[in-house]
Amino acid sequence: MIADLVIDNAIVVTHEAAFPASVAIHEGKILAVGAKDSMPAARETLDAAGLHLMPGAIDVHVHFRDPGYPNKEDWASGTAAAAFGGVTTVFDMPNTIPPTANAQILADKHAIASAKAYVDYGLYGLLGENTIEHVPDLVAGGVIGFKLYMGNTFGAIPSPSTGAMLEAFEVVAPTGKRVSLHAETNSIMERRQERLTQAGRTDALAHLAARPAVVAVEAVARAAILAEWTGARIHVLHISSAAELKPLADAKARGVDITGETCPQYLFLSADDYGRLGGIIRVNPPVREAENQQPIWDALQSGLIDMIATDHAPHTPEEKTRANIWSVDCGFPGVETQRPAMLTEVAKGRASLTDYVRWSSFNPARAWGLLPHKGVIQPGADADIALVDLSARWSVDDAKIQSRSRISPWHGRDMCGLPIHTLVRGRFAMKHRTLVEETRGWGRSVHAIQAMPEPQPLHTDQTMQAVLQAPAGAGAR
Ligand code: NCD
Ligand code: ZN
Repeated sequence: MIADLVIDNAIVVTHEAAFPASVAIHEGKILAVGAKDSMPAARETLDAAGLHLMPGAIDVHVHFRDPGYPNKEDWASGTAAAAFGGVTTVFDMPNTIPPTANAQILADKHAIASAKAYVDYGLYGLLGENTIEHVPDLVAGGVIGFKLYMGNTFGAIPSPSTGAMLEAFEVVAPTGKRVSLHAETNSIMERRQERLTQAGRTDALAHLAARPAVVAVEAVARAAILAEWTGARIHVLHISSAAELKPLADAKARGVDITGETCPQYLFLSADDYGRLGGIIRVNPPVREAENQQPIWDALQSGLIDMIATDHAPHTPEEKTRANIWSVDCGFPGVETQRPAMLTEVAKGRASLTDYVRWSSFNPARAWGLLPHKGVIQPGADADIALVDLSARWSVDDAKIQSRSRISPWHGRDMCGLPIHTLVRGRFAMKHRTLVEETRGWGRSVHAIQAMPEPQPLHTDQTMQAVLQAPAGAGAR
């Protein structure tokens, strides 16, 4: 057997350990991990001395804006940014135009993504007030999971009522798919924003004032109750506050199949940054008071928060710098800077390399049924690999990032750690900090390899579908 590629002299980092080893790759998969002299002959070798070899990150929360907003991002620029960030799988959100709410729109998006993507991907289907009937077709058409907007955010997708949410969970539960939640309660935020506007507040901090942490606390608790009742699997996106950790922990203790992510903005930015960054920092949920940061770090360490994602949400400079905060588009890019930002903290001793791999690769793969293909460095796994120089010191320049968005709160931030090469199923998507153009279109949807645990729907005799027919002996009409 002649392997396609052998990578020598790297330090391999998995979710469990870091050790010097060589890695052999054949036909897109890892063939062997071990001593250099145990490697098969190879068509190509790479000397990775000085580099750490880790599973590519799985970013379960990106907005690549395609179709719909080519001035903000598209599948090529977004996945190029992923490749430069050592990210090998992304899950794309459905707030594109049109929203990914039925099988035809999903098929169109699959066609766009598969033609342009440099890295692998999953597509979320939209779970809204009026999209529940499309769930079976969306599952058949290949979604990685569903997205439900409990609160208003960019794209202005109406948040479903609690009644629709319950019915949506009833319908998704037997499919085994996970429902990812934008867990902010709309009615609270809408009311506060209206009153703040009437009072004449247009400053950046008014955005935070409209969305106190209780909006997340209420939303997480309510979603967990519905998930517990129906047996649906849920995921809490972008955890931003210490307060919402309580309903998350309570739900986990009750046995709800619930996972959670936080994002670099909630670990590294705080209310103190609004003065400096203004609308650039506007994001949903908002960047909060500094005292939220340490509890979120602690929750990552304890495993209460399962993973890091980015909510990569690019907009143009014009859209991010409007004077009135309410007219500034929410979100900013992050898929390219997450790994360096987190590894900078590892360099400071705040977490270990294995912690980082657990948060960025292994746990997302586990939560979405992608083990043992993704998120691990072991024989048989997909050769999705980030080779990182942990000693590289650099600072972020928004003018030089791959994302089409040229504005972010990360501009000027000092980093320690830089991905040098990124492989997706054995092929270089980024090599020596250069995009490998031939891999455009190599990325493919991972829904086909997804294997979720057996679904466990509950209270199935009381679902909307179950009660629409009167049972025998139900009494007079
Ligand atoms: C996201 C976007 O721009 O699509 N914006 C944001 O502020 N996070 C939407 C979202 O994830 O809520
Ligand atoms: Zn969101």
